[in-house]
Amino acid sequence: MEQPILEQLRKQTRPAHVALEAQSLLQRLLSSSLTEAEYGQLLQSLLAFYESLESELVPATTALLAQHPDPDYRYLPRVPLLANDCRALGCDYSAVIRPPVALGLDGSAAFILGVLYVIEGSTQGGRLISRHLAHTLGVSENSGASFFNIHRWDNSWMAFRHWFGRDLACHYQNDMNKMIEGANMTFSTLHTHLDQSQVLTHEQ
Ligand code: HEM
Repeated sequence: MEQPILEQLRKQTRPAHVALEAQSLLQRLLSSSLTEAEYGQLLQSLLAFYESLESELVPATTALLAQHPDPDYRYLPRVPLLANDCRALGCDYSAVIRPPVALGLDGSAAFILGVLYVIEGSTQGGRLISRHLAHTLGVSENSGASFFNIHRWDNSWMAFRHWFGRDLACHYQNDMNKMIEGANMTFSTLHTHLDQSQVLTHEQ
């Protein structure tokens, strides 16, 4: 059975997930008329977001793992994958305008766990998205869609849930609101970032 805290996180972030799926760049991602240019633009936006996020999240997760060691869980950096995908698509990601992403990781472990829940859980959407990308653009994990194929070769989502269930859930059960805040902040920051990068692209 799923951890009650993870169930809570899923429930409390559902509206933010639904809203993000409707964001126009992500909506286009699942369109049957998706173009390589649109997919490239999304990859560039995601790359900018993860560059900003991971500069804070990677050290924060390392510190959390030092406090609560786990034999299996480690954070898989997404930036190298997204950079490779951009290269495979031929997009010039070095020229991407990177609007600053204000994430405000507040340093509390519960907040960071909420952020990690969203990032690790998002690989589950990849099951659907990767099939669609293979079908529409013919891209696979080796040719521009490694980010959306993480679920195929990396078990971080399962390892994260086990790590969480072993002792974190008990340790941070009174910090549920902080966790939900971290998770919803991640959804809303990405949503705003995608909206803004779309405006910037249209202004160029
Ligand atoms: C077009 C975009 C997206 C689609 C179609 C999509 C779809 C899905 C699907 C089908 C699942 C599996 C649900 C289940 O097994 O019950 C899922 C899970 C999830 N997605 Fe998305 N997703 C998208 C984008 C995102 C993004 C951008 C994020 C956050 C960065 C995200 C975060 C999550 C999380 C956290 C879960 C795990 C929920 C849980 O099991 O607790 N998704 N998504």
